[in-house]
Amino acid sequence: MSKDFSRMEDSNRSINPSIHEVSDPARRLFVKGGMAAAVGGLFAGLAGCATPAEGGKSLLGFKGVPVSTADSIVVPEGYVAQVIAPWGDPVGLSGDLPKFKPDASNTAAEQEAQLGMHHDGIHYFPQDGSKNGLLVMNHEYVDDGLLHPDGMKTWSAAKVRKAQAAHGVSVLEVEQQDGQWRVVLPSPWARRITASTPMAVSGPAAGHALMKTAADTSGRRVLGTLNNCGSGITPWGTYLTCEENFIFYFKGPEQPSAHEARWGLRKGDPTGYRWHEHDERFDAGKHPNEPHRFGWVVEIDPLNPSSTPVKRTALGRAAHEGATVAVTRDGRAVVYSGEDARFEYIYKFVSRDRIQPGGARANAELLDHGTLYVARFDANGQGQWLPLLHGQGPLTAAKGFADQGEVLIKARQASDLLGATKMDRPEWIAVDQKRGEVYCTLTNNSNRGGERQPGTDAPNPRANNTMGHIIKWRESGDFHGERFVWNHFVLAGDPANARPEAKGNVRGDAFACPDGLWMDARGVLWVQTDMSTSAMGKGDLAGLGNNVMLAADPTTGEIRRFLSGPRGSEITGVTTTPDGRTMFVNIQHPGESPSERSDPANTKAVSSWPDGPAGGRPRSATVVVRRKDGGVVGA
Ligand code: FEO
Ligand code: CA
Ligand code: CA
Ligand code: CA
Repeated sequence: MSKDFSRMEDSNRSINPSIHEVSDPARRLFVKGGMAAAVGGLFAGLAGCATPAEGGKSLLGFKGVPVSTADSIVVPEGYVAQVIAPWGDPVGLSGDLPKFKPDASNTAAEQEAQLGMHHDGIHYFPQDGSKNGLLVMNHEYVDDGLLHPDGMKTWSAAKVRKAQAAHGVSVLEVEQQDGQWRVVLPSPWARRITASTPMAVSGPAAGHALMKTAADTSGRRVLGTLNNCGSGITPWGTYLTCEENFIFYFKGPEQPSAHEARWGLRKGDPTGYRWHEHDERFDAGKHPNEPHRFGWVVEIDPLNPSSTPVKRTALGRAAHEGATVAVTRDGRAVVYSGEDARFEYIYKFVSRDRIQPGGARANAELLDHGTLYVARFDANGQGQWLPLLHGQGPLTAAKGFADQGEVLIKARQASDLLGATKMDRPEWIAVDQKRGEVYCTLTNNSNRGGERQPGTDAPNPRANNTMGHIIKWRESGDFHGERFVWNHFVLAGDPANARPEAKGNVRGDAFACPDGLWMDARGVLWVQTDMSTSAMGKGDLAGLGNNVMLAADPTTGEIRRFLSGPRGSEITGVTTTPDGRTMFVNIQHPGESPSERSDPANTKAVSSWPDGPAGGRPRSATVVVRRKDGGVVGA
């Protein structure tokens, strides 16, 4: 059964707003170079494709790699790639270190002390600069066909526990010697956080009536985090993990309410996780408030292995792809987050208080107080951040919001009423702190312009948007402002396509379905693609091979292919050491079949990466990329 959430994430039936249902004057203005004048000079120099390189020197110093369909990692000439930290390797908690069993016969208890499946967002926290540090990474979901020796042929409480243990977050200590990296085993920093780990709830929705369940009458203690997709970090040294497609872990009631339907809850168990069969809290018919306890950004302090992760409700409930932090000039934190679902929204949170020196402890409540906004992109290239504040505008008790907690739990409905812009699946967000600019990948939306679906608009200008795009905005004044100006950094595509809407306007190497997005210290924008395995190699994607990571120069707009993944994989998170000489890239779901659930009798049908034909099954893993001459990656 398919777990392709992207085919299902389409539950926004709100009628807001029709003002975008026009062609794309913003883009035309932009192409003519007239946009800066049109919006009072605010956007000067923001043009992704029109501004000549400053100083004429490109940020990209490597030779691009070709399109590949090989079952291997491809990196540029002069680079090497090393695999570390595959799913199932021990994480290095003290005590016994359970080795990975290639036949997938590790128990749930062993999985709790091993890396989870399906690596996603990742960050390197330096301990000894660029030689030793902590890698913190997400494990988004599982392929039960690979996780158990017989897949889902039999089903049991033990299998549910193992699946839950393969979700969440891993904290690993890693170190380098002569350019080779290894996971330190055992390590006092090592930690697994899973779909069963106790977590605290903080912020305005903590303790809310809608957060209380039979097992937690306080509404403040939740077991676990799941579907941990993108990630972020804070300036005070913590890690943000994001709960993306949480709703699909729940069996829906016979007749979902309008509220449940708005969040995509369906009758039965459409994605086939089957957790509710042995863990009743995942039966939303019996426990209707349990889904309210997911869909949050969770803050983890990796430097304190005994700390309790905290679900930060002030940032709003959503199918959060990621969470990226910017800092205002007066020292407040701004958290940007997209909601990866068709026709959903882009949010930002601005903290009330300033960041304090003193690390996590000194900023323990910083993300609990502030204002959450949702984005409206206007057709004239300007935009407005709309505050989700109880008592303001339509967000009243009469409209179904008893208090601020309910506004945050029902952030989608609140955004509908405010007239936020329905986007083409907002994924990762990258912040250019120096230039005050923000980028967001809009991965694709083949429903755009479909029958009884929203039509094209200025920010989402292509019907049947199979290729995706990257939108870019600049805040007015500072990151805390309520106004911004926007344009498209790039419309992804392949000029070889016959369909005009699928050609795109890429200056450089063709690509589709941008997802992961991160700006490095030099200002290079790294773009990772997620063409779904059901669509790869066909139709508009026929000429694009495997999923890739590209590097973009924001000044010139040039985009160059840097790395290609093995068959059936998606490229997910990326991070570097502080010296920029080591890059860690996550490879998710190598070998995934178009059905997204592997055949346990034929585990290597698509890929045997990284263990090769002698291995038991493909495994998600982290790839360490370095230059042979030890130089800065990408330069
Ligand atoms: Fe988990 Fe939207 O990618
Ligand atoms: Ca993603
Ligand atoms: Ca995917
Ligand atoms: Ca994706």
